[in-house]
Amino acid sequence: MTENAKRPTVEELLVKAESRKLDPDGVRAAFEHSSTPGFVDKTADWLPESEHVHELLLSLMESTLDQGGRVLDLGSGMGRLTTMVLDRFPRCSVVAADYSQTMREAATTELSRYGDRVSQIDFDMFSSDLPQDIGKFDAVVSGFAIHHGRDLMQYKSLYRRIHSFLKQGGIFVNLDHVAGEDRAQTIENATEWRDFLDEDGEIESDKFIYGSYVKDTPISLRNHVQLLGEVGFEQIEIPWQKMIFALYT
Ligand SMILES: C[S@@+](CC[C@H](N)C(=O)[O-])C[C@H]1O[C@@H](n2cnc3c(N)ncnc32)[C@H](O)[C@@H]1O
Repeated sequence: MTENAKRPTVEELLVKAESRKLDPDGVRAAFEHSSTPGFVDKTADWLPESEHVHELLLSLMESTLDQGGRVLDLGSGMGRLTTMVLDRFPRCSVVAADYSQTMREAATTELSRYGDRVSQIDFDMFSSDLPQDIGKFDAVVSGFAIHHGRDLMQYKSLYRRIHSFLKQGGIFVNLDHVAGEDRAQTIENATEWRDFLDEDGEIESDKFIYGSYVKDTPISLRNHVQLLGEVGFEQIEIPWQKMIFALYT
């Protein structure tokens, strides 16, 4: 940007991204064509309190998984959360589910260290069925993937399916991009996020924000909580929320 070029406001960035929003095939193609070089965790560059929130995410599953158990990682990507769960809970196994072959391949070397404690499946969380013989899970975990739901009905139907994947007393934990409760709050949260990205300086913030909103279709925490309740989840909590991100269970 030249010195005189006016920097877009966050609202302008969001409006531009929304006007060019990728359809579901476009989102999928973006993951399929991403140049993920393998396992590289750069989350700390763009996620506030990254270490703290991941620790919190794992601690939420402690009482369920301490003695072992089966975990489904939805939208597992290069296996970041999968490996965190496998390291933290040595008696657990994880099914890492992702619809992108590129992302699954990016995960294979890292995941092969865990032998038969981990398996990968090709799975579109919004439309595929799980393999019939896969059994139920003690925990379903997800990170930065569920925000690709397109509307409330699609989110609700995913939550109903997640509920059905779980054993009685199982736990669902999601760390994700969420919308504000209204437009003004969405812009305020995204502005705070841009300030955070600018402070860190590792990332071209405007490009990153545009890239996120062109792909993601986040909904508000109030909507998440309501939908989870409607499909039968009890004890819904939001242990952490910062800028455009939240951890809910
Ligand atoms: C931003 S990455 C996050 C990966 C990982 N969960 C993490 O926290 O590092 C999002 C992942 O979700 C996957 N994904 C997006 N939509 C999906 C869908 N409908 N079904 C399965 N995987 C999906 C993408 O292929 C990608 O690997």
